[in-house]
Amino acid sequence: MKQENVSLKTRTDDFEHQKMLEIKNLKVVFPMEMGLLRAVEGIDLSVDKGKCVAIVGESGCGKSVTSLATMKLLNPAQAVVQVDKMELDGMDITQLSEPEMQKLRGRKVSMIFQDALSALNPVMTVGKQLDEIFRKHFKISKKEAKARSIEALRMVGIPEPQMRYKAYPHELSGGMRQRVLIAMAFACHPDLIIADEPTTALDVTIQAQVLQVLSDMQRKNGTSLILITHDLSVVVHMADEICVMYCGKIVEKASTRDLFKQPLHPYTKGLINSVAKMSDEKGEFVQIPDSLPNPMNKPQGCYFHPRCPYATEQCRQEMPYMETLENGRQVRCWNWREEVCYVE
Ligand SMILES: Nc1ncnc2c1ncn2[C@@H]1O[C@H](COP(=O)(O)OP(=O)(O)O)[C@@H](O)[C@H]1O
Ligand SMILES: [Mg+2]
Repeated sequence: MKQENVSLKTRTDDFEHQKMLEIKNLKVVFPMEMGLLRAVEGIDLSVDKGKCVAIVGESGCGKSVTSLATMKLLNPAQAVVQVDKMELDGMDITQLSEPEMQKLRGRKVSMIFQDALSALNPVMTVGKQLDEIFRKHFKISKKEAKARSIEALRMVGIPEPQMRYKAYPHELSGGMRQRVLIAMAFACHPDLIIADEPTTALDVTIQAQVLQVLSDMQRKNGTSLILITHDLSVVVHMADEICVMYCGKIVEKASTRDLFKQPLHPYTKGLINSVAKMSDEKGEFVQIPDSLPNPMNKPQGCYFHPRCPYATEQCRQEMPYMETLENGRQVRCWNWREEVCYVE
C-alpha cells in the first residue's frame, strides 16, 4: 500500500509543469459581408498532462471556435486563424497538413460534442462505429475490434454492452448516446480530449451521471481534458483550472478553488451568483443584465463595461490588460482590487 502511494506521488510530480497543450495568442476572424467578426482575440491556453481545464462563458463568446481552431477543424474558406504557438505534447502542430492532422485526431486528441445525434452516423450501429475507430488506428481483426468496442461500452457504464453494441443511435436515450461519444473519444487512449458542452442537451440528473463518467474516465486514463461549458456549475467538481471567456477574450483564469472562493472579475462574479441563486431559489435564474454585445460591433474599452456595475471612465476608454497576480491567477479588469469586486 505504502509503495503504491509513493509511485502515485512520483507520477503526479512527473506530470507537474508538463504541458499537453500550449497555445499562445490564438486569433480567429471570420470575414463577413458586413465586416470582420473577431471571434477569438488573442487567447493563451495551456493544459498540463492529466489535468482538466474548463473554458466557461455565455453562448457566443468564442468557446467552440477556440476548440475547433485547436483541432484545426475550422474551414479555411471561412476562418482566418493566426497563432504564435500551438504545441501538442511538445510538437508544433501549426504547420501540420490535413492528412497529418487526421492521424492525430482520435489517436492523440479527440473531441466530444454536445449533439450526439449529429455526431453519430444514424444508419450504422454504435458498435460498428466504435469498431471503425479501433480499426482505423490499430491493425486488428474485426473480432478483436468488436471485443474492444464492447469493453469500451462497458467502461462508460452502458448496461448490457453486447446488446447495445448492435443498437442504432436513435434506439438509445440521450444519456446513453453521450456515453457512446465518451467511449469513442477515449477509444484510442488519446492524450487530450476536448469536450464541448458534452451534457448541455441532457436533463440535470442524466447530466450529472454523464459528467461523472467523463470525470472517472479522465482520471483513470490520466487524460488531459478541456471542458467547455456555458454552465459554471458543471465544472466545479471536475476542473483543476477555469478560464472565463467573454467576447473572444479570456477575462479571468484561476484554479477552480480560487475562482469560486474569490472571483475577481465582475463577470465571473455574476456567473457564480447566477449559479448560486439557481440552487437556492427554485426556478429564479438571476442573470447578468443585458446580453452580449454584437460581435461585429464590440464596445470600446473593456468589452464588459456596458454590463458592469463597477465601470469607470477608464473602462469605457481602454481595454484592460491581463494582469498576473502573485499566485499565478490572472484577471483582465482595471478595478479588480476595488472592494466592490469581491464576493459579499
Ligand atoms: N463559421 C462561422 N462563420 C461566421 N461566424 C461564426 C462562425 N462560427 C462561429 N461564428 C461566430 O463566432 C462567435 C463565437 O462563436 P462560438 O465559438 O460558436 O461561441 P460559443 O461556443 O462560445 O457559444 C459567434 O459570434 C459566432 O456567431
Ligand atoms: Mg459552442
